[in-house]
Amino acid sequence: MKKNTDKEFKVGICGLGTVGEATLMLLTGENSNEIRHRIGASICVSHVATRTLKPELTKNVPCVGTDPFVVANDPMVDIVIETIGGYDPAFELIKQALANKKHVVTANKALIAERGNELFEMAEENNVVLAFESSVAGGIPIIKGLREGLAANKINWLAGIINGTGNFILTKMTEEQRQFDDVLKEAQALGYAEADPTFDVEGIDAAHKLTIMGSIAYGIPLQFNKTYTEGISKITPEDISYASELGYAIKHLGIANSSCSGLEMRVHPTLISKTQLLANVDGVENAILINGNAVGSTLYSGPGAGGDATASSVAADVIDIARYTLAGSSKPVYPSLGYQLRHKNIQVLEIDDVETEYYLRIPAMDEVGVMAKISSVLQAHGISIEAVIQKEPVSEVVPIIILTHLAKEKNMVLAMQAIENLEEVVGDINRIRVESF
Ligand code: HSE
Repeated sequence: MKKNTDKEFKVGICGLGTVGEATLMLLTGENSNEIRHRIGASICVSHVATRTLKPELTKNVPCVGTDPFVVANDPMVDIVIETIGGYDPAFELIKQALANKKHVVTANKALIAERGNELFEMAEENNVVLAFESSVAGGIPIIKGLREGLAANKINWLAGIINGTGNFILTKMTEEQRQFDDVLKEAQALGYAEADPTFDVEGIDAAHKLTIMGSIAYGIPLQFNKTYTEGISKITPEDISYASELGYAIKHLGIANSSCSGLEMRVHPTLISKTQLLANVDGVENAILINGNAVGSTLYSGPGAGGDATASSVAADVIDIARYTLAGSSKPVYPSLGYQLRHKNIQVLEIDDVETEYYLRIPAMDEVGVMAKISSVLQAHGISIEAVIQKEPVSEVVPIIILTHLAKEKNMVLAMQAIENLEEVVGDINRIRVESF
């Protein structure tokens, strides 16, 4: 049957950086015919707003300018794509577009995670869609996977490598036994890490993405400020090597877990068994392992950043919106965060109340009775030891490596303080959480 391909959706792209440019190319390039057939209508990039004009790229775009609000206010535009990034003017721009009853597609994870509740409310009031597939894990269709593919499941837990820069750094530190600072410089030179790498290496970027996935998985409002966030800057090649000896890799994970005491939302370096597929996702790749009560565990991996990969997700949202519009629903059938927010009252646990296993590296003097003292502190705090490594000393300080069984964070913090106060312990303990999926 011949499809009606007469309808044309007018799209305005705001921001022509790496992702905006790749989106323009994808929607207007060699895939445009295929996309038209898949929708049953055409996508026309009618507007581009960009701070730096790039005439070569936009020569076929009818309206090109520097002011994104022109795009948000033009009655011709059906869908506004926000690829500017950051908070300002992206937040006001999205609000303006939604108020004008335009659908919006954004790649802006910081904005969705921190201001999304307000924006989704506005989208609902105006009966339009705010789509954000590209805000988490770049080219991996994880939002659709979680919201649609796993819609019949209760999500027990999910754990993801959701920052490519951090994964690149940990991979290099592992493969080449290099220090964090040294590899960070290489990541910056390669353009993976920003000049100010804080968002990536201190886990803020991953916390934004985890906040979004957690909201969909558990039907809760976005709660970025409740997501516990710890970065990778304190990880050393020694820790990676001891972890490896014990059968573990160190990965920077975003974890959402529905435990019996509440919901855990946490980003931190984690020891995971080297036999796990997730432990073998290296370099700038992302991967998310999701456990649903019907399906069991499913793993999604691929490029978490980069122009073409992210544009693939942006364009998929545009296609979804066009399909939904053509289906003629009176109300968006495209749910913002996947559920009505059914679980507004679910509490996200404080990190103090979270239980995990732990890896400890304790710098201690090589003296009689140290091990016994450390063991008795752990015992006094109800923490049981699973494994210990103590090498022959090469100086008077010897690292004692301990793996514990499950312990509550607040007990571990108290035990660590008590151990650091022992006179034979001569520095800070390096503590890394351990997970077995
Ligand atoms: N800075 C991010 C990362 C890019 O390294 O994964 C996409 O969010």
